[in-house]
Amino acid sequence: MNILLLGSGGREHAMAWKIAQSPKLSKLFIAPGNPGTATVGTNLAFAADNFAAIKNAVIENDINVVVVGPEDPLVKGVVNFFQNDAELKNIPVIGPDKVGAQLEGSKDFSKQFMFRHNIPTAGYLSVTGENIREGIDFLNSLQPPYVLKADGLAAGKGVLILNELDETISELKQMLDGKFGAASKTVVIEEFLSGIECSVFVITDGKDYKILPEAKDYKRIGEGDKGLNTGGMGAVSPVPFANTEFMHKVEERIIKPTIEGLISEGIVYKGFIFFGLIKVNGEPYTIEYNARMGDPETEVVMLRIKSDFVDLLEGVANGNLNEKTIEIDDRSAVTVMLVSGGYPEDYSKGKEITGLESVQGSIVFHAGTTLKDGKIVTNGGRVLAVSSYGKSKAEALSFSFSNAQKIQYEGKYFRKDIGFDL
Ligand code: AMP
Ligand code: GLY
Repeated sequence: MNILLLGSGGREHAMAWKIAQSPKLSKLFIAPGNPGTATVGTNLAFAADNFAAIKNAVIENDINVVVVGPEDPLVKGVVNFFQNDAELKNIPVIGPDKVGAQLEGSKDFSKQFMFRHNIPTAGYLSVTGENIREGIDFLNSLQPPYVLKADGLAAGKGVLILNELDETISELKQMLDGKFGAASKTVVIEEFLSGIECSVFVITDGKDYKILPEAKDYKRIGEGDKGLNTGGMGAVSPVPFANTEFMHKVEERIIKPTIEGLISEGIVYKGFIFFGLIKVNGEPYTIEYNARMGDPETEVVMLRIKSDFVDLLEGVANGNLNEKTIEIDDRSAVTVMLVSGGYPEDYSKGKEITGLESVQGSIVFHAGTTLKDGKIVTNGGRVLAVSSYGKSKAEALSFSFSNAQKIQYEGKYFRKDIGFDL
């Protein structure tokens, strides 16, 4: 089987690494990929949302399945593009169509969906320029902190959590006035939920689903989970508090109603669903859906999938996921993200990375790197995901931390407390 994987981050390198281990694979292409994906497949130099280039690549390379890493191509309708093209319509794409991707692309859509299907989530009100007065009344009825969310995709920056009512009202007005462009023309105001978060993933063919290993990611830049939000500074799997009892509740109250809800609404969803969950007094609530896998969670999830990942992808493509089994590795997996100095604010790129060859006992997934004059240099805020197995979480972390020390570039920073709270 020939596979085209779209994307260029650590998530895609981790997926490519796992796909490349499959006996079912003939050729793997990644667009645009990074120097890490180039070690397990062939990079193609076009953007993940360049539909015309995707079409050419699929035809030219005799691609049998397309796997979509990031949300952008999904929200822009890459699946619909395939369905509506005479030459592509029989090529399966692993990812939802434009409507299914709204689970991630529109917070208002996803909240309405959750309420229609009685899926536990925070109370909310969606506000536009029309009903701002109602929005202010709703905020007045809540206790701080206040949660404001831009309805649309805002590059991970669209959620504000604020303590002061005045400031919240002023932010609400700015958001409605276009602070995040079209993404915040509608704002979702939510009740604040206090608890501990984790990420749960399923792969579905639109009828059946398989639950992938759960993970916890660390979003803040600073140790103790302090400071600015990032794309994710590290992740661990398994998550001890996501025990059998909790996961049973997640499956019954959240996963099944979501899959059944999609089916009952006629949304044919083939791909990954990422459930951003919070455990409040032992009970799971849904904070958000994503229409893709998480990053850096995928860098630990792929390590813990023991069975053939391509076999699962094939199950989605052929609609026979019910005939497939998923085997999970008992070991712990962790990933520690090495980032650029200054990230998530301004940082510079193009710093030469050395020491990769001295890494032992970890798998280093490339996130923001590129090749320049034959050298691997930094090319993003999140640079490398140093991922390890261990008999315990502590053992896995010790491998990642010692290898994180061996890799050098100017401005390197990483959190030394990933997984310590668990
Ligand atoms: P989201 O983009 O919806 O995942 O929100 C980003 C982060 O904001 C989440 O991971 C939570 O840490 C926090 N958050 C979002 N919604 C809520 C809520 N209703 N209560 C508490 N925290 C929230
Ligand atoms: N790690 C969170 C995300 O991928 O959205």
